[in-house]
Amino acid sequence: MRKFARIIGTGSYLPPKILTNDDLSKTIDTSDKWISARTGIKQRHIVTDESACDLAKVAVNNALEMAEVNANELDLIIFATTTPDKIFPATATLLQTAIGATCPAFDLQSVCAGFIFALTTAEQYIKTGAANKILVIGSETLSRIVDWQDRTTAILFGDGAGAVVLAGSKERGILHSKLFSDGRYLSALQVDNNYINETGFIQMKGNEVFKIAVNQLSSLAEEMLKECNMSASQLDWMVPHQANIRIISAIAKRLKIPMEKVVVTLAKHGNTSAASIPLALDVAVRDGRIQRGHTLLFEGIGAGFSWGSILLEF
Ligand SMILES: CC(C)(COP(=O)(O)OP(=O)(O)OC[C@H]1O[C@@H](n2cnc3c(N)ncnc32)[C@H](O)[C@@H]1OP(=O)(O)O)[C@@H](O)C(=O)NCCC(=O)NCCS
Repeated sequence: MRKFARIIGTGSYLPPKILTNDDLSKTIDTSDKWISARTGIKQRHIVTDESACDLAKVAVNNALEMAEVNANELDLIIFATTTPDKIFPATATLLQTAIGATCPAFDLQSVCAGFIFALTTAEQYIKTGAANKILVIGSETLSRIVDWQDRTTAILFGDGAGAVVLAGSKERGILHSKLFSDGRYLSALQVDNNYINETGFIQMKGNEVFKIAVNQLSSLAEEMLKECNMSASQLDWMVPHQANIRIISAIAKRLKIPMEKVVVTLAKHGNTSAASIPLALDVAVRDGRIQRGHTLLFEGIGAGFSWGSILLEF
């Protein structure tokens, strides 16, 4: 009988400090009207002195509690982040100790596609039997690498964390996943530093990113559904990377998925990179929209570019 990797717990956390669009308009030449219309974002949460590990710890404890799993039962921790606490050791090992786990733990860096890459990696461990309970985290403090004087990027990003506990199960879980990378898009989105100088800032060609995101993610979703002999109408929920409402609604329109079936949380927290999908998932699970047996499509894209999608039964 096929063994599935099934999500048995979700958790999320946003740091308490909030920066609204109106707050931003006091320091840069922008407005709530412009930001809301172009992105759908109303506010973002920003760390004061918390690290990616600190944010993750709260999200993880919520996920472990829902899963009814103790940290010492975990077989593996995969921590997706672009803003690790230190160059080394891996933030995953800091978290391992913070929650009292003893299993192997490693970081995975794939920017805004980080959670999709981490969850797909975790699934392989479960399918092969190498692990049975895995903690998968997306946690970011992107505010540290945002140039707060650059109105083309400062309006978009925020901090936060999301986590899931993945377990081997006879019940259906992850059904299909696909990952892609294409490093030729380097100049469209990057942090222009080389570790030797200093921390750099996010540099982005917004229009270019927008078009690539809509085209790649729409085509990928169509491919995923075709390969599973499914149609978009069979999806209960699409849980997309929370980058921009216009990107999300363009993809939903192309797939003919009504917006009522799309989980959108970005108004509250902006683009939290690797944290955004598990954050949105946790919100919709806890408010009762997503229920056991629902079919979900995750999809995300980030700098590189790297992108991917996961189809699963929750
Ligand atoms: C960034 C983004 C919101 C910009 O929206 P856009 O519709 O493409 O806007 P443009 O860049 O064409 O700029 C339009 C005008 O608004 C101005 N503008 C840019 N940022 C602004 C801001 N924050 N406030 C007010 N005006 C702004 C521009 O200077 C430009 O002015 P001009 O017409 O006088 O030259 C949009 O391109 C986007 O969301 N791209 C994807 C980014 C993303 O998701 N990145 C992460 C991927 S993981």
